[in-house]
Amino acid sequence: MYVAKETRYETMRYNRCGASGLLLPAVSLGLWHNFGSNASFDNMAALCQTAFDLGITHFDLANNYGPVPGAAEENFGRVLKGSLGAYRDELVISTKAGYVMWPGPYGNWGSKKYLVASLDQSLKRMGLEYVDIFYHHRPDPDTPLEETAAALDGIVRSGKALYVGISNYNKEQTVAIAKLFKEMGTPFIINQRKYSMFVRDIEKDGLKDYAGKNGIGVITFCPLAQGLLTDRYLDGIPADSRVRTDGRFLKEEAVNGETLEKARALNAIAKERGQTLAQMALAWIMRDGDITSVLIGASRASQIVDNVGMLEHMSFTKEELKRIEKIIG
Ligand SMILES: NC(=O)c1ccc[n+]([C@@H]2O[C@H](COP(=O)([O-])OP(=O)(O)OC[C@H]3O[C@@H](n4cnc5c(N)ncnc54)[C@H](OP(=O)(O)O)[C@@H]3O)[C@@H](O)[C@H]2O)c1
Repeated sequence: MYVAKETRYETMRYNRCGASGLLLPAVSLGLWHNFGSNASFDNMAALCQTAFDLGITHFDLANNYGPVPGAAEENFGRVLKGSLGAYRDELVISTKAGYVMWPGPYGNWGSKKYLVASLDQSLKRMGLEYVDIFYHHRPDPDTPLEETAAALDGIVRSGKALYVGISNYNKEQTVAIAKLFKEMGTPFIINQRKYSMFVRDIEKDGLKDYAGKNGIGVITFCPLAQGLLTDRYLDGIPADSRVRTDGRFLKEEAVNGETLEKARALNAIAKERGQTLAQMALAWIMRDGDITSVLIGASRASQIVDNVGMLEHMSFTKEELKRIEKIIG
C-alpha cells in the first residue's frame, strides 16, 4: 500500500495558472507514453508515486492516450484505485478530447455531441466523478467555435470538470475562444502547447507573450523534444529509448547529425552549469515567467527525479542565454 512521502511539498514550486485560483506544479507529468496496454503496470504506479512524492500534483491525460486509445486512462484509474486516489483532493487531473476516439461522425473534433460523450467515457475509465481540467485537444475548423466553447462551459456547469483548457490553439484562435469564454463566465485557465528549445512556435505566433499578459496559463508539452533534449541519444540510440520502443511519434530520422550537434553543444553548457541537459532544457522554458508548468513524460522514475532537479538551478546569465540562442536560434 502506497503512502505518500510527508516531504512531498518541500521542494516543488507552484505557479498560479493564469489569473485563476489554481496553482500548478512547475513540473507536471503526462501519460501519453508508457501507460499503454503493453506497458508494465508496476512501472506506471512507480512513475505516478515518484512524481507525487516530489510534489508533482498534476497528471495530464487524454481520451486517446494508449495504445490502445483509452488504455492510459484505464491504467491511471487502476493507479488511483490502488493507492494514489486516497489523495484525490491533492491532485489536479486533466483529460482531453479532440482527436479521433471512436468510429463514425461523433467520435472526433469539437462538437458538443463528441465532447460531452467523450468526457463521460474518460471519467468511467479513470473511475472519477470529475476532472480538474478538461481540454479541447485541437481546434476544429468545421464546428462553430461558439458550439465548442458552449459545450466546454456546459461541462463545467454539469460538475464534470472544474476548469476548461484548450490545446494546440494558436494565438489568434486563443483570442477568439477566450472572448466567448469571457462572455459566458467560463473558468478558462490554460492553453497546452508544444514548446522546447527545438520547437518555438508559441514565441513566433505570439501566444507566449499574449497568454502571460492576459491571465491565461500555459503548460508546455514535449519540453524535452521527446528525449532529444536529454543525454538519451548522445551516444547512439539505446534499445530502451522511445525511438526504439515506440517510434510512432519520434522516428529514428529525428536523431540526425544536426540535432545531435545542437544537443551536444547544449549539453556542454549544461555541464558548466552543473546540471543535466534535461534540467537545463526545462529551466530554459521557464526562464522568463510566462510558462506555468513544463509537462514532461518519463519512462522511468529516475528521469522524473532528474527533471525535478531543475528547480535547484533555474536562473540563466545573459551570457548563457546568448550562447544557447546561438546554438538553437
Ligand atoms: N496536447 C497535445 O497535443 C500533446 C501532444 C503530445 C504530448 N502531450 C502531453 O505532454 C506530455 C509529455 O510529452 P513527452 O512525453 O513527449 O515529453 P518529453 O518530456 O519531451 O519527453 C519524454 C521522454 O524523454 C525522455 N526523458 C525524460 N526525462 C529524461 C531525463 N531526465 N533523462 C533522459 N531522458 C529523459 C524519456 O524518453 P525514453 O522513453 O526514451 O526514456 C521520456 O519518455 C505527454 O505525456 C502529454 O501529456 C500533449
